[in-house]
Order: sequence, then structure tokens, then C-alpha cells
Amino acid sequence: MIALTINGKQHTVDVVSDTPLLWVLRDTIGLTGTKYGCGIALCGACTVHLNGAPVRSCMTPVSAAAGQKIITIEGLDSRVGHAVQAAWDKLEVVQCGYCQSGQIMSAVALLSGNHKPSDSDIDSAMAGNLCRCATYQRIRAAIKEAAKQLG
Ligand code: FES
Ligand code: FES
Repeated sequence: MIALTINGKQHTVDVVSDTPLLWVLRDTIGLTGTKYGCGIALCGACTVHLNGAPVRSCMTPVSAAAGQKIITIEGLDSRVGHAVQAAWDKLEVVQCGYCQSGQIMSAVALLSGNHKPSDSDIDSAMAGNLCRCATYQRIRAAIKEAAKQLG
């Protein structure tokens, strides 16, 4: 049995210790906002926060997340989280939407540590999040909009 703290709630899951965190979130807990894209840490669709840092849940064994603070897209309830979601909405960033929970999780992690990111800060923080619909320009604009709102 593995104890997890996800979005502020305690869960105890009966899974093999090397099960990817992504599958525990989606299949065991039922939090399907975190997406499966590549399964090999190349696309960023599965990004969640572990103690505030963005991680690829497809390559994170659930045992590595035990005792850590796990936040998924469903649990983004911070000031930065609200600012990012509002900016995404205002600038209509989303196209098909598949990559967007991962994009938002990476953007929130960036802005939580840096309220005034430069273009290169944004490029570097978001480089691992791919978007097949090529919404990159709107993502960058939305990060800047959220930064403006955060002051
Ligand atoms: S599904 Fe995890 S990085 Fe692509
Ligand atoms: S919005 Fe479609 S993959 Fe990013």
C-alpha cells in the first residue's frame, strides 16, 4: 500500500511500486485531467507538480511520489493557478486541448518562481511541452498576460 497526498487529499493505493504515477492518477484515483501522450517523458502532456516542481508523471514511479505534495490540473487552486487559467481563457489558447493541462501545469510552475519571465525563461520552462495544434504563440502570450495580472 502506498500513501499519496493528491490535491490536498490523502489516498492509499494498492499498486506495484514502480507503476507510473500517471496511471495511478488516471486509473486508480480517477483524475483524468492529466493526459497520456508519449509515455517516455518527451511531450509533457502528463505534467503534474511534485512539491511545486513540474514532473512527467508517465516516468515517475508512484513510490517516488509517496509522501510528496502532488498537485494535478484538477487541484490548481493557487493565485498563480487562477491567473494562468484566466489568461488561457481570455486569450483562447486551447485548440484540441489535449496538451493543455500539461502546458498549464508547466506555466504555473514557471510563474510560481518567476513573476516576470523573459522570452527565454518561457522558452526554457515550456520547451518540454509539445502541442500538435501549434498553440505556442498563444501560450507565450497567455503566460505574459498572467504575469501582468500577477504584478
Ligand atoms: S506522456 Fe509523459 S511526457 Fe509524454
Ligand atoms: S491544443 Fe491540441 S495538442 Fe495542444
